[in-house]
Amino acid sequence: MKLTSLEKLFVHELKDLYSAENQLLEALPQMAKASSSGELREGFKSHLIETEEHVRRLDQIFEELNYSATGETCDAMKGLVAEGEEIIEMEGEPAVKDAALIAAAQRVEHYEIAAYGTARTIAKHLGNEKAASLLETTLKEEAATDKKLTNLAESGAHINKMAMR
Ligand SMILES: [Fe+2]
Ligand SMILES: [Fe+2]
Repeated sequence: MKLTSLEKLFVHELKDLYSAENQLLEALPQMAKASSSGELREGFKSHLIETEEHVRRLDQIFEELNYSATGETCDAMKGLVAEGEEIIEMEGEPAVKDAALIAAAQRVEHYEIAAYGTARTIAKHLGNEKAASLLETTLKEEAATDKKLTNLAESGAHINKMAMR
């Protein structure tokens, strides 16, 4: 696809996000399974449900734009998921592993926050208020997830103690 217009760029960004979210649908259950803390596990599970909704919102935007959602692979998310898998496979102190899972998950959320912020801004430039508002809703959920992860990391005083040993 040639980037001959802002709409083409919009579609490109959306396809990248579509691939990223679908990769996460596969990765989040594994992250949940690898979590020792019940709170972290529940966090991954509830973000999986939100992620399903993120995919549906993108589907809705694609439908209205009359473009197919597929056709691109988000290589950045591939890398982030691979790093997450590395942690899942590592042996170690459960609380320290949880801290590592949080670190990996926050990288994912920050990637999504950057991508959704950009896509929302482009939607606004295109005058596509409906898409802008759908993207903004997802953006807020990504930001809230990032904040929850920060809280979990900060409340994990036991994690720090363990890590110092
Ligand atoms: Fe998402
Ligand atoms: Fe997310």
